[in-house]
Amino acid sequence: MSLIVDTFSRTVEYLRLSVTDRCDFRCVYCMSEDPCFLSKDHVLSLEELAWVAQAFTELGVKKIRLTGGEPLVRTDCDQLVKLLGKLPGLEELSMTTNGSRLTRFAAEMHASGLNRLNISLDTLKPDLFTSLTRNGKVDRVIAGIDAAIAAGFKKIKINAVILRGQNDDEVLDLIEFCRERDLDIAFIEEMPLGVIDERKRSRHCSSKEIQDIISERYELIQSNRRTGGPARYFTMPGSDIHVGFISPHSNNFCHECNRVRVTVEGRLLLCLGNENSVDLKAIVREFPGDIEKLKVAILDGIQHKPKEHHFDPNGETQILRFMNATGG
Ligand code: GTP
Ligand code: 5AD
Ligand code: SF4
Repeated sequence: MSLIVDTFSRTVEYLRLSVTDRCDFRCVYCMSEDPCFLSKDHVLSLEELAWVAQAFTELGVKKIRLTGGEPLVRTDCDQLVKLLGKLPGLEELSMTTNGSRLTRFAAEMHASGLNRLNISLDTLKPDLFTSLTRNGKVDRVIAGIDAAIAAGFKKIKINAVILRGQNDDEVLDLIEFCRERDLDIAFIEEMPLGVIDERKRSRHCSSKEIQDIISERYELIQSNRRTGGPARYFTMPGSDIHVGFISPHSNNFCHECNRVRVTVEGRLLLCLGNENSVDLKAIVREFPGDIEKLKVAILDGIQHKPKEHHFDPNGETQILRFMNATGG
């Protein structure tokens, strides 16, 4: 049982560990067009990431998800997976990726001990994909998804952020894509991070609308699958896939939140929609390898985990940090 318990009696067993703020895409909901990335000395090294992860697992964290930016642009990602895979008590090591490098790395990652993959795919239309990612190629990502399946990854989840007027007409096509390949899918409401302008406000598309579109073709049956995460899952007749809805606006899951993040700068971020944090990098740099010091800081910090996020689709409450710097 995890020792990381907050003041609302929520137990934290899940760490989202960001390994880079860099990415080969520039998705419109994630980054500014011309992002400014952190220099290497501001980012946790491989060894520092492993110490932080060790502190969490010694406190009882069972699941670590590597996020970014795009984790696979970090050249020592494979070494990190091998190191973390050896941590006693860790039951699941997963990664959220944009899929662009999976043709090259899927087999290696699987062999190194990565258990699960979530892969982003918002549209199947080549031009729209390039415009939403500001430079990505959808064929490459689809080839990456197929490489991950071929490498033996099970229970892959596709993440699709649905934006009104952009890809909201592709909900059923994305479902068919996943049914054909036996993949789960989560439809995500855009979270208002970074600068919120009128364009962002008007493209908000609620999970309820997406659910209604799917229900025109398929019966959605509530599933009892729970990852302690934001998604509410459903199944549908005629296939084994799960369809999830991540609805930070319309269905806040904060009361059962089981997770914290460590940003690429080593900030223990207690909630995605709040700035409360603890500077773990300062501790690992002052006391290299001192796991006990990290554990004390984590246990102190968790007492400041807020009850809930205060995202506001109208952008009244703004979180100015972009997602790539936050860690998906
Ligand atoms: P599991 O590990 O299987 O639970 O996956 P997940 O769906 O939580 O993770 P994934 O990396 O696929 O993220 C999907 C979406 O959920 C992204 O948009 C994340 O930003 C969002 N998300 C993940 N954790 C949190 C959280 O703590 N709060 C909020 N508001 N959103 C989150
Ligand atoms: N709102 C919702 N989801 C987002 N992601 C990135 N930025 C946002 C945002 N502003 C998603 C990506 C990826 C996951 C890590 O987070 O699409 O699937
Ligand atoms: Fe890169 Fe993912 Fe952000 Fe897109 S959402 S820019 S793929 S980190």
